[in-house]
Amino acid sequence: MEVKLAKTAGFCFGVKRAVDTVYEQARQRKERLDAGEENVPDIYTFGPVIHNEEVVKDLEKKGVKVLRSEEELMELREGHVIIRSHGVGKTVYDILEKNNIGYTDMTCPFVKKIHDIVKRESEAGKYIIIIGNPEHPEVKGIRGWAGNRVSVIESEAEAREFCLGNTELKDESDNKICIVSQTTFNYNKFKYLVEILMKTRYDISVLNTICNATKERQTEAEHIANEVDAMIVIGDKHSSNTQKLFEICKKACENTYYIQTLDDLNMNQLKLKSVEAVGITAGASTPNNIIEEVQNNVRLNF
Ligand code: F3S
Repeated sequence: MEVKLAKTAGFCFGVKRAVDTVYEQARQRKERLDAGEENVPDIYTFGPVIHNEEVVKDLEKKGVKVLRSEEELMELREGHVIIRSHGVGKTVYDILEKNNIGYTDMTCPFVKKIHDIVKRESEAGKYIIIIGNPEHPEVKGIRGWAGNRVSVIESEAEAREFCLGNTELKDESDNKICIVSQTTFNYNKFKYLVEILMKTRYDISVLNTICNATKERQTEAEHIANEVDAMIVIGDKHSSNTQKLFEICKKACENTYYIQTLDDLNMNQLKLKSVEAVGITAGASTPNNIIEEVQNNVRLNF
């Protein structure tokens, strides 16, 4: 039996960099505590470093705590905070500096680039439109650099509504707009929403800030799913990019399984279906050890 593991399975560059940093800082903290050092600061991440329960629990065991809101951060008087790859708005940096809390900024450089764009363009007087999910932490972070004249648009209805007239943009000839995107937004949908917005008479500049990592992962998963008899998609049940991967694979291969860890995988189910080739992929927040474990077990059990 053949096992095809997607090369793009698991952490993207930005997530890997952030997760590795948290583990490394936890290790160094333990080393200092073991050496008897006093006043070693606690380590916090601002929000879970990734959407993966296994990793968050593992980090908790290593003493890394999660701050869930700006209010919690404001209460903090000591410790060291790690900013995750999604990035944060300016107010978070302001709180850290005001309260003299040390921090390590692991904002993905591709997200940081969007912060710089919206800051620069809003300071130049432009109205900012972010194409993305307003509830996503990355979008909230971008919004936090865009000044007061900003809208987040996620759906066709919202784009059409914006075209009907925005109270802050009364005189169309007088207003310049800059459009950016959440890094993980679907490219076709982005293009479609931009086309709708371009129908207005505003002076619009569009910056496609979608990151290729998501697209590459989806394209490869679909390609593999088309070639195998069964497909395994590994990822946290709350991870939206894993859900999307599952949908794509399921369309190409009916026999597709969504698992969080090896425990969820029913080998008998796979065997019964006389599988000859199995494909494996994983969402952007799935750690390598979980992918390896699944892969090794599938190889051993056939
Ligand atoms: Fe960065 Fe792209 Fe990952 S923006 S966090 S490398 S999906």
